[in-house]
Amino acid sequence: MEIIRTVEWMKEASRAARDLSRRIGFVPTMGALHEGHLSLVRAAMAEHRPVVVSIFVNPAQFGPLEDFTKYPRQLEKDAALLEELGVDFLFTPEASEIYPVGFRTYVNVEGLSDRLEGKSRPGHFRGVTTVVLKLLEIVQPHSAFFGRKDAQQTRIIRQMARDLNLSTEIAVLPIVREPDGLAMSSRNAYLGAEERRAATALSRGLAAAAAAIEAGERNSTVLIEKVRNMLNAQPSIRPDYVELVSEETFEPAAKLSGASLLLVAAFVGVSRPARLIDNLLATPEPGGRFRVTL
Ligand code: PAJ
Repeated sequence: MEIIRTVEWMKEASRAARDLSRRIGFVPTMGALHEGHLSLVRAAMAEHRPVVVSIFVNPAQFGPLEDFTKYPRQLEKDAALLEELGVDFLFTPEASEIYPVGFRTYVNVEGLSDRLEGKSRPGHFRGVTTVVLKLLEIVQPHSAFFGRKDAQQTRIIRQMARDLNLSTEIAVLPIVREPDGLAMSSRNAYLGAEERRAATALSRGLAAAAAAIEAGERNSTVLIEKVRNMLNAQPSIRPDYVELVSEETFEPAAKLSGASLLLVAAFVGVSRPARLIDNLLATPEPGGRFRVTL
């Protein structure tokens, strides 16, 4: 595996691969890699060579009071994991390489970026779309792989790809969970033992809602209550939002109809809480039933 730190070098490596008619697969990450990230890498490896993984803790997507400085960084361990999987290039630039002095251009997907995660984290998605567009331009991949864990991020990136006629195919993969249901996240590293146990309330709440959907419940208030009740049973959890939205528009839905996401965000922990997110996907099937994917 080759470790690349400059934009020029990465562009040159991609150009060389394209000159050989290779199909480039790309997985953008912020590092502290876990099985969720590695599932994207494996999916990329299945149909692409070379595979490029980026590790870049993107300052532009963190608010001034967020965890940019304490975000987990473990480059050597990450590099070893990627090497073992057979990744070809690890692109890990300095911030000054991506945002040199005088940088002024930002990409914003309007509307979709202002709600839910965007409302709780103003400017977050502007930072995400800006860096993802830059990374796609630098790496020039045929396909880029994202996780449904960050469902709104994925929806916004798809919109950007469509609106800006990007040539990269955007692939979305399922949520990888710990054995007890907790969605894997680099931020889980912030949790103490007790908080780690409490954190399963997010996925347990979604599982309760999933069971209700399978039993025929369609009312969003009832489904949201299932999740809220589970969160409220944990004194160390403060819910941020629980919403049922259309998968296409991300507008709130009063009733489950059409492909929908039940989204949850919550702060876990008392002194220095970790902000965790999770979701379930419900897609309509013939006969008025829904297929629920956690
Ligand atoms: P990061 O949080 O490191 O996540 C990188 C990718 O891994 C994202 O596509 C995310 O959805 C996916 N992922 C995270 N946890 C997952 C899980 N449990 N199961 C499946 N996929 C999972 O998301 C970002 O970084 C950044 O915003 C980025 C897109 C790299 C732009 O800076």
